Amino acid sequence: LPGSKEYDVVVVGGGPGGYVAAIKAAQLGLKTACVEKRGSLGGTCLNVGCIPSKSLLHNTHLYHQAKHDFAKRGIIVPEVGFDLGVMMKAKEGSVTGLTKGIEYLFKKNKVDYLKGSGKLVDPTTVAVAGLDGSNSTVKAKNIVIATGSEPTPFPGITIDNAAGKIIDSTGALSLKEVPKKIGIIGAGVIGLELGSVWQRLGAEATTFEFMDAIGAGMDKDISVAFKKVLEKEGMKFKMGTKVKGAEVVGDKVILRHEPVKGGPEETYECDVLLVAIGRRPYTEGLGAKEVGVAFDEKGRVKVDKHFATSVPTVRCIGDVTYGPMLAHKAEEEGIAVAEYLAGGHGHVNYDAIPSVIYTYPEVAWVGKTEQELQAAKVDIKVGKFPFVGNSRAKTVEEAEGMVKIITEAKTDRILGAHIIGANAGEMIAEAVIGIEYGASAEDIARTSHAHPTLSEAFKEACMAAWTKAIHV
Ligand code: FAD
Ligand code: NAI
Repeated sequence: LPGSKEYDVVVVGGGPGGYVAAIKAAQLGLKTACVEKRGSLGGTCLNVGCIPSKSLLHNTHLYHQAKHDFAKRGIIVPEVGFDLGVMMKAKEGSVTGLTKGIEYLFKKNKVDYLKGSGKLVDPTTVAVAGLDGSNSTVKAKNIVIATGSEPTPFPGITIDNAAGKIIDSTGALSLKEVPKKIGIIGAGVIGLELGSVWQRLGAEATTFEFMDAIGAGMDKDISVAFKKVLEKEGMKFKMGTKVKGAEVVGDKVILRHEPVKGGPEETYECDVLLVAIGRRPYTEGLGAKEVGVAFDEKGRVKVDKHFATSVPTVRCIGDVTYGPMLAHKAEEEGIAVAEYLAGGHGHVNYDAIPSVIYTYPEVAWVGKTEQELQAAKVDIKVGKFPFVGNSRAKTVEEAEGMVKIITEAKTDRILGAHIIGANAGEMIAEAVIGIEYGASAEDIARTSHAHPTLSEAFKEACMAAWTKAIHV
């Protein structure tokens, strides 16, 4: 094509999958461009996901702690208040700092950042509708689709983030004031994290969940303990509940629901309703189908083990294809796909992708749940250790929760680790390394852990799974 640029790799989408793939490809010597239409890099995660939510979770936790927990520690703060505007500015600051940081990394690694919407024209050509109104095409030996995901709509319920009444996660990151009552559909990761944010600031939060357990499939023991903690903090749950619809009436939202098992329809009135029932792959306007890329019945791009789609020059990674919709999973795939394209070998171990819910306490897990292993008829051993038995947790008064380790009975190999407790999100890295390297519970039980640290609870849970713990 006249005037078009030629690349070894063009990545469509600049989220954690796409930007990491682009940087790695460039580092491996491939001439690389990344097309992103949002106006800033970092995708859902940096702009409207992981990063802004963690800023709000952290700062609202500090506020909540100052208000409800400081006095018992002998810290007297005469009056604790918050300034929502400043909290939102802090959140925006962290987003801008990090998204600009990716731009810097692109320059440093010589990745061309093409600002605009990318559309596959044929298996080696991407048309770019520039944010500045320009139109161009780029040729690529290989194209990587990394276009991510979007909130799953609830049939019949209209999201309007600008109005701030019926919102999705993006709306819930930018409310202008704290609602008196917030309703939440879905007790999954988003519902629990963002529900916690607004509840800590004073909203009365009620979550409506179709299933009988919270946490979208996490281990039952942890899910039960987690629900108790959240209930103690004031969150209300309507479990086994089918939402029939929701409408804005004046300045209220009216939600209609009924028990899944059958029963009378009820209504619930709130100021804001957050719809958080999952996310779905995003490929609107991408032109992938038209060039022959195959999709599965859930709208995910079909890939093989090397992330190749049904079109040999087109690969695909991240939320838009199979696997958990997590930033670090997308990043692992970003590295691996670049390595495959550069002629090497990539590596992603899907059995060792951790999940973390950044509430307080945090919940983190990796590997299989007890229920999954029972269903697969695997002979297992379970070791549990409560944080009340951990000296550091007791000393700093963060003794809520436990570590649960599941091993294969015959080999003592760790198959799953499930933690609820302060810093669970950091501690899970130990389990991830253990699973990645095929550790047994005994391996970890015999490894020295610094005293007094919370991670000793992890060691003791491994001792419990292997033989016996000491401190319970
Ligand atoms: P995305 O991050 O969605 O990036 C895709 C990018 O492609 C987007 O920027 C989009 O604008 C762009 N794009 C799409 N189509 C085109 C096109 N045709 N042309 C050009 N550009 C295009 N995960 C975690 O691991 N930890 C967390 O704490 C966490 N918190 C979250 C909190 C919230 C509220 C949400 C919504 C998600 C959270 N996630 C978290 C999930 C995480 O954000 C995603 O798993 C991750 O962003 C997926 O990365 P990706 O690169 O596949 O896609
Ligand atoms: P989710 O899949 O975690 O949870 C959705 C919940 O909604 C489930 O419990 C499901 O049973 C329930 N649900 C579905 N349909 C329903 C209905 N009609 N009525 C009532 N309940 C219904 O999805 P969520 O919370 O929207 O998050 C999407 C994804 O974003 C997560 O799966 C995760 O991949 C990612 N994410 C990750 C975070 C993290 O890693 N800390 C934080 C936020 C999001």
